[in-house]
Amino acid sequence: MLLKTEADTAQLARTLAGLVQPGDAILLSGPLGAGKSVFARAFLRSVCADPALEVPSPTYTLVQAYDAPVATVYHFDLWRLSSPDELDELGWDDACEGIMLVEWPERLEDMMPPHALHLTLDVAEDGSRTATLVGWPGRLPTSCGAGPENGA
Ligand SMILES: Nc1ncnc2c1ncn2[C@@H]1O[C@H](COP(=O)(O)OP(=O)(O)OP(=O)(O)O)[C@@H](O)[C@H]1O
Ligand SMILES: [Mg+2]
Repeated sequence: MLLKTEADTAQLARTLAGLVQPGDAILLSGPLGAGKSVFARAFLRSVCADPALEVPSPTYTLVQAYDAPVATVYHFDLWRLSSPDELDELGWDDACEGIMLVEWPERLEDMMPPHALHLTLDVAEDGSRTATLVGWPGRLPTSCGAGPENGA
């Protein structure tokens, strides 16, 4: 789906924030500057019902937890993860019971959660962004650009 402006990315994040349940994971891929952090900020503010929530990038801590009404939400930025073995000490098992939002999910290798939503952001030549959503068959509204890859 086309995300013309940052506001469109934030709107998609809020729609998905309204759908998540404990045990869900959203894996956020895309190149530098694609809008992963814009998405994460809007998602966390919405799921925590706090429009002014500070959302620091967990670049160094690798994970930041948020107590949302629906579940604890774990925001991972795995850019600096050297091996999936390190996930243990980051509390990966607990996070799997909550809701996970994962930037740089490629670092998970074989630890990739099985029923995750894969959201890939790309930048077009004119600077507009596109989002491709794969997973969660039957769960996504058509406003999220759900297609055959989502069982819609
Ligand atoms: N449609 C759009 N969606 C999201 N961001 C957009 C859009 N159009 C322009 N932008 C701009 O692109 C930038 C996206 O930055 P952001 O930090 O979210 O990227 P990122 O994917 O997290 O990059 P990095 O991997 O470097 O952390 C912001 O400055 C934002 O204003
Ligand atoms: Mg970022």
